[in-house]
Amino acid sequence: MDEVRLGDVVLRNRLVTSSSLLGYGVSNSTLVPYGMSPIALFVDLARFGAVTTRTLTVQPREGHFTTRDDWPLTALPGLLRRYATVLRGTDGGWVNAFGWCNVGIDAYLRDYYPRTRDHRTIISVGGFSAEEFVQLVDKVNSAVPAGDIAAVEFNVSCHNVNFDFSAILGSVLTEAVPRSAHPVILKLSPDYDYLANARQAARHGVSALTAINTVKALRLNPRTGVPLLANRYGGLSGRAIKPIGLRVVAELRDAGVRLPIIASGGIRTADDCREYFWAGADAVSLGSATWLASYPGYALAPLHALRIRRVLRAVQRYQPASTTPADPDLDGVHPLRRADHP
Ligand SMILES: Cc1cc2nc3c(=O)[nH]c(=O)nc-3n(C[C@H](O)[C@H](O)[C@H](O)COP(=O)(O)O)c2cc1C
Repeated sequence: MDEVRLGDVVLRNRLVTSSSLLGYGVSNSTLVPYGMSPIALFVDLARFGAVTTRTLTVQPREGHFTTRDDWPLTALPGLLRRYATVLRGTDGGWVNAFGWCNVGIDAYLRDYYPRTRDHRTIISVGGFSAEEFVQLVDKVNSAVPAGDIAAVEFNVSCHNVNFDFSAILGSVLTEAVPRSAHPVILKLSPDYDYLANARQAARHGVSALTAINTVKALRLNPRTGVPLLANRYGGLSGRAIKPIGLRVVAELRDAGVRLPIIASGGIRTADDCREYFWAGADAVSLGSATWLASYPGYALAPLHALRIRRVLRAVQRYQPASTTPADPDLDGVHPLRRADHP
């Protein structure tokens, strides 16, 4: 299968996975794959256009959860109670506030990345200053030769670390983007000025955009008023945000933004992908609607995996408007807006 080039971002195909849902692309335990969706046990991750890691920071962070992944089965009830304070199901989606809980960039590059060399990877990084982004980029540059990963994705759009990223975006783009030996993708938030941020990204040499990150959200216990999430606010993901993601992608194109766009937001089926391609996306990303389930729902993981493989096949056969669409599921998708962007 031919690779797909979105500018200088080279993917295996147009279907990638969204940051964090598959952890670092590999788990330390096969029985209970801590840190990643158990559905991943039944799908070959090497078949995706790319697998995007959880957001990595300069130092390890517990965030609002834990980086520990050696829980004995007896400790599981406590772990699950804690889990419920960072991830909650809600109508048509999920709210989460993990708060960038991660092992840190050094441990990732040393202990996880080498075990995912058969994947195409997008490394997601996050920080609270331009200096931290520069350090992250430098560390990836030294550990990963140019061309070995698809891109580094800058997460400056997370709602559960309680930080105003608009204050640092300019300096992050000015200082960190030119240092990267790898293409840089900027992940946009629907809650910030994404049109201005996208234009700013284009001016600073960013290669592509991911749209969208989660939507800032809140859930309260109806009897006590106490927030369900430890961080009070969290990010809404899943089916509920698909129309918002579509709006953002379409508005970016309407505003003349020409950078390639990887669409993220509520995608689960080939039709979801079709909608996003129509809106102007160049690639699509499977997130929580695909990889998250209720605990009993995970028993159906092999069936979820069958559905994911079907979506993969459909997207792999998809051809942009300039060539002939060959896939019956995506046949007829001629994203007219694509004609005027690279
Ligand atoms: C549990 C969970 C954790 C997430 N963690 C991250 C993260 O670490 N970095 C990031 O950029 N996005 C993170 N996201 C956002 C997703 O990558 C994705 O962009 C977002 O959920 C919208 O897509 P979806 O509706 O398909 O899930 C997370 C989402 C969920 C549900």
